[in-house]
Amino acid sequence: MTGKFITLEGMDGAGKSTHISHIIQRLEAQGHEVVSTREPGGTALGEKLRELLLHESMHAETETLLMFAARREHIHQLIAPALARGAYVLSDRFTDATYAYQCGAKQVELAKIQLLEQWVQADLQPDITLLFDVPVEVSLSRLATARAPDKFERENAEFFTRIRHTYLQRAKENPARFRVIDADKPLEVVKKSVEDIISTL
Ligand SMILES: Nc1ncnc2c1ncn2[C@@H]1O[C@H](COP(=O)(O)OP(=O)(O)O)[C@@H](O)[C@H]1O
Ligand SMILES: [Mg+2]
Repeated sequence: MTGKFITLEGMDGAGKSTHISHIIQRLEAQGHEVVSTREPGGTALGEKLRELLLHESMHAETETLLMFAARREHIHQLIAPALARGAYVLSDRFTDATYAYQCGAKQVELAKIQLLEQWVQADLQPDITLLFDVPVEVSLSRLATARAPDKFERENAEFFTRIRHTYLQRAKENPARFRVIDADKPLEVVKKSVEDIISTL
């Protein structure tokens, strides 16, 4: 028995956290066990690494290595066992975020990230990735009203433009896995798009 691995991606402020609880409800109503988690984080050690990653300044490659260290633990402790018992695993960010932030925005070499991905994940990939896509100005304006910004959220518009571009590029390269959601629409409209995708799983 194997479950399904669903990841939510997109810039800060795109709406990932807003929609995750609704997705959980829908899947549970269909009788599935749902494990909801996030990256960086998802385990006790991963959450400690998250604190460092979000608030300490460090070299972009150090950041990449810590992301994958947290991910290794996340897969070992939580994701793989849940999938093995048939659960649906819903993760707020996964490796696409490393490509978007550390490679796309911070220019860590693509080959290094691919090497770490292969090492840490082997053949584990999400079954489906919901990419919440919003223009950079929308992301920034939603963040301005939401919460105190972390290290990444304090970056400038050009940084976010590179993130958006990388996410969209990855969606184009992996059309079978990605579903791009226009998250610049009113909440109810976005919610309907998400429901339509979830109902096809
Ligand atoms: N479609 C939408 N229209 C207007 N505001 C939204 C929409 N989606 C999310 N928001 C608001 O934007 C802010 C950031 O949303 P959030 O779900 O926390 O984003 P993320 O988890 O992707 O960073 C929240 O205040 C949320 O209420
Ligand atoms: Mg969030």
